[in-house]
This record gives sequence, structure tokens and C-alpha cells, in this order.
Amino acid sequence: MKALLCKTLGLPDTLLLEEIPDPQPGPGQVLLEMRAAGVNFPDALVIQGKYQFKPALPFTPGSELAGVVLAVGAGVTNVCPGQRVIASCQLGAFAEKVLVDARQVLPMPPGLGFDVAAAFTLAYGTSYHALKGRGALKAGQTLLVLGASGGVGLAALQIGKALGARVIAAASSADKLALCQSNGADALINYHTEDLRTRLKELTDGKGPDVIYDPVGGHYAEPAFRSIAWGGRYLVVGFANGDIPALPLNLPLLKGASVVGVFWGEFVKRQLPDFIQDLGEMFKLLAQGKLRPYISKSYPLAQGAQALQDLLERTVTGKVIITNGDVKEASASSTPAGVATAGPTATSTTDTSALPQAIRPTDLTQWVGRELGVSSWITLDQARIDAFAQCTQDHQWIHVDEQRAALESPFGGTVAHAFLSLSMIPVTVYELLEGRLQVKATLNYGLDKTRFMAPVRSGQRVRNHIKVVALQDKGQGRWLLTTENTFEIEGQDKPALVATTLAYLME
Ligand SMILES: NC(=O)c1ccc[n+]([C@@H]2O[C@H](COP(=O)([O-])OP(=O)(O)OC[C@H]3O[C@@H](n4cnc5c(N)ncnc54)[C@H](OP(=O)(O)O)[C@@H]3O)[C@@H](O)[C@H]2O)c1
Repeated sequence: MKALLCKTLGLPDTLLLEEIPDPQPGPGQVLLEMRAAGVNFPDALVIQGKYQFKPALPFTPGSELAGVVLAVGAGVTNVCPGQRVIASCQLGAFAEKVLVDARQVLPMPPGLGFDVAAAFTLAYGTSYHALKGRGALKAGQTLLVLGASGGVGLAALQIGKALGARVIAAASSADKLALCQSNGADALINYHTEDLRTRLKELTDGKGPDVIYDPVGGHYAEPAFRSIAWGGRYLVVGFANGDIPALPLNLPLLKGASVVGVFWGEFVKRQLPDFIQDLGEMFKLLAQGKLRPYISKSYPLAQGAQALQDLLERTVTGKVIITNGDVKEASASSTPAGVATAGPTATSTTDTSALPQAIRPTDLTQWVGRELGVSSWITLDQARIDAFAQCTQDHQWIHVDEQRAALESPFGGTVAHAFLSLSMIPVTVYELLEGRLQVKATLNYGLDKTRFMAPVRSGQRVRNHIKVVALQDKGQGRWLLTTENTFEIEGQDKPALVATTLAYLME
């Protein structure tokens, strides 16, 4: 197998892509085929010998991944070969095959792509533990996030919003701040061009932020701490800036404030049940669309060193990942048959990022006549087709009889029922709008017109391009929204269907 190897400590350009023997799983271990690996700042530090632990040379960096189980060692019962999983490991993820401790492997939630799964656990886990566990952030409080467009920073911004806080995002450029704004930041500070203390005073009526999330360190730490609110919590997350700041101890005294350390890796080791609880809560927020990992760039394994270099050069935003094969393949096969989890949940990383976090019905006028967004891919596999037939009692052979369809169907196999594709409209619309649309209720009023244009063969993937056709003010805070849904079939020009739907939005 191919692996990125660190043979001498140094900058990313010292990493080598080499062919090495496939590892074999020992007792309690799992061998994974890596599909996507998350790139994190500590990976760039560990290869330079600047991180908390210093592995023996040679080693392969990479601490989190999503992939498929290839083999399990003796005594492993929590996962089995073929299963799609997320895994954490201190090292080794930047390789085609990765050996991990079975205790660090979790099944991937259904509907998630490998890309999002690989980019989620560490950044969101750190920020969730920091804000909820260590910072006790409450709804209505003000959170300042430094380095807010970075991996853990953007996660902190989204989690802060999901917890009901007012979030001030601070970053070093207008582009980075624009990304923060589209991710729901309530206020922005360019700490490169603006004075942090003055702006914080202005933005908080002199009170200061209740919680400060700091993954940057360096010269921002002291002015930020001097601005903190009475009783505030300053979360020490990291030192991307390179310098570990020193703080005069009279400052916490004068502010009645706390300096709180955050060490997620150690938290996971020492407080595993608390981490599992966090993860459950985070997956729920992910499914609700309140957390939306933003992957700005993917690098094939051969260019993995460049991913680390870009991170060090401060040119990336959100998360970057290293890939090996198809990362968009959703885990539909792990969805229990007949369970209506057919839809994607926040698996689209590129298409929802342009949408603001909060959308009022009137805001939708901006999209009239144009595309609001594109959903994630949904695989209409045979299990889903069978489940649909079971629900509708429509067991036509062209849909469910694979043997006969292989012989007689003009499509060379079974096809998804046209109404199955149609029934995917709500889940694809929820993916884009749930958690964003500022309404008391929406009423799915029905279909205006539908054209079924091309059959979807079993196993093909579809996604919905959602266009706003019209928005009518019906008075008393009620709006009639008309959308056009075009279901693209992967690799085909002709769509599966185009359907116009009506929905009432009630403010
Ligand atoms: N405590 C924990 O458990 C834990 C867990 C994960 C990560 N971390 C730490 O958190 C920090 C951020 O990690 P990450 O993966 O989110 O990294 P990242 O995506 O590269 O984000 C780091 C951010 O820091 C800012 N920055 C300021 N000076 C920088 C410099 N000289 N070089 C690079 N970035 C600089 C950048 O934003 P601007 O350009 O806008 O300033 C950048 O967006 C790292 O120090 C990492 O070790 C800690």
C-alpha cells in the first residue's frame, strides 16, 4: 500500500509517498481502507517534532479518517468487514490502509459521505467539548471565536450558534470573515486591520464576551482576555500562531474570570462516556443541519504534503481533507431497511455553505428565478426500492424482481419507482433549510406539476437542484413558496424528474 512517511522531522516537503507492506490487524485491531482523512493542525506539528507527543521515526501522520473495514483482528466485535466507519488514531491516517484500535472505531451515521465524516470528529469534538463542557456557554451569552474561519474555529462558530449564543468571529482577512458571516456569525472583527479591544468594546456595549475560544494564541490572547466579561471563561485551545502567550495573573482576578484549558484527546481517553454523549448530541445537530462541516479543499493522497503546507501557510479555510477513492459514496447500505432515513443529512459541503445561517421568508425573494442550492447525493439502492414497495404495496417486478429485470428489463435491471425519487423532495429541502428558515411552521402544501423524464436504475445516485420560482405574501405573516425541484441523475444530462411544489411558511 501507499503511505505518506515522515522519515526525518521537518516541514511537509520532507514527507515521502512510499510503497510499504500492508499492515495486518492484531487482537483488538481493525484494518481500514482509508477513503478520506481529516487534516488537522497537530498533524503539521507532529512531523516537525513540535507536538505534545514525539513518535519514533519513520511514521505516517494523520489522526482521523473515514473508510471501510477491510479486516478485523481477534476479539473485535463492534465492527465487521465491509462496514463504513469513522476512526480516530494518533498517527497513520495518511495512507491507503490504516490500522486502528477497535475502541477508536465507530459506525458512520447513515447518509453521511466519507468526506464529511472524516472532517467532523476532531474539529467538532474539540469545539463542542470546549464550549459546552469547559466553557459552559449558555444561550444568550456572547462568544468570541479567534481564528474563526479555521478548522476548529468554524466548528466553534457553528456550535456557538447551535447553542443559542451571539457569536463574534475574528479572523485575519475579509475573505475569511465572509465565510464566517455565511456560517452565521453575528459580528465580525478583522484582527489584522482592526484593534481587537476597541471593536470588542463597541460590539458588546463595553461588557465584553462571556466566553472566548482561542485556538490561535500569540499576541491576540492578552488583548482578548483584557476584554472578557465579568465571570468570563477564556478557553485555551491552541497556538496556531506559534507563540504560547503569557498572561499577567492579576487579569483573571480583576475580571473574576477563568482561564480554562481544553485538551480534547486527553478528554476522550479519560472521560470516554462523556465523549460518547457529546458525539451523540453532535450527530443530532449534524442531522438537523445546524452543524455543516465546510470542506474547502480535497487533496489526493499523493498531494497530502501540500495539504499540510497550505495549513501552515494559513491559506486554507474550514477543513481540508486527504482522499483515496470515492468520498461522496453515502452509507445507505447501513440504513436499516424500511427506515425512512433515506435522505441525506448535511452531507453536502459545497452547496449549503453559500446560504446564510438564518433565512427569513422575505429573504427568499433574492432567490426567485435562481437556484437556492443542491442537495447531497442520495443512492436509490435496491434496499431502499424494496422498502418503498413495502410501504406503497406496489410490487411491480421492474422495481423489485432483480432476476427477472436482469433478463427482461430494457434497463438491464430494476429501476427505482418514479414516486420514490419524488418522495425525496422533503428530505432534500430540509437539508438546505432546516435550522435556517426563521418560521414558526411550514406546511407542505403539495405538488403543482411534475414531469417524470428518465428512469433511475437501482443503485444510481440522484440529487435535487432546488430553485425558487415564486414567493407570494399571503398576509398575516403567511407566505406561499413555490419551488422547482430538478432531480439530476449522476453522470446523465437528462434529469429523473422536474416537480413544482408549494409550501406555506408561517412566521
Ligand atoms: N486543544 C485541543 O484539544 C485541540 C484540538 C484540535 C486542534 N487544536 C489546536 O487548535 C489550533 C487550530 O487548529 P486547526 O486544525 O483548526 O488549524 P487551522 O484550520 O489551520 O486554523 C488555525 C487558524 O489560526 C489562525 N492563525 C493565526 N496565526 C497562524 C499561523 N501563524 N499559522 C496558521 N494559522 C494561524 C488562522 O486564521 P487567521 O488567518 O484568520 O488568523 C487559521 O485559520 C492548533 O493550534 C491546534 O493544535 C487543539
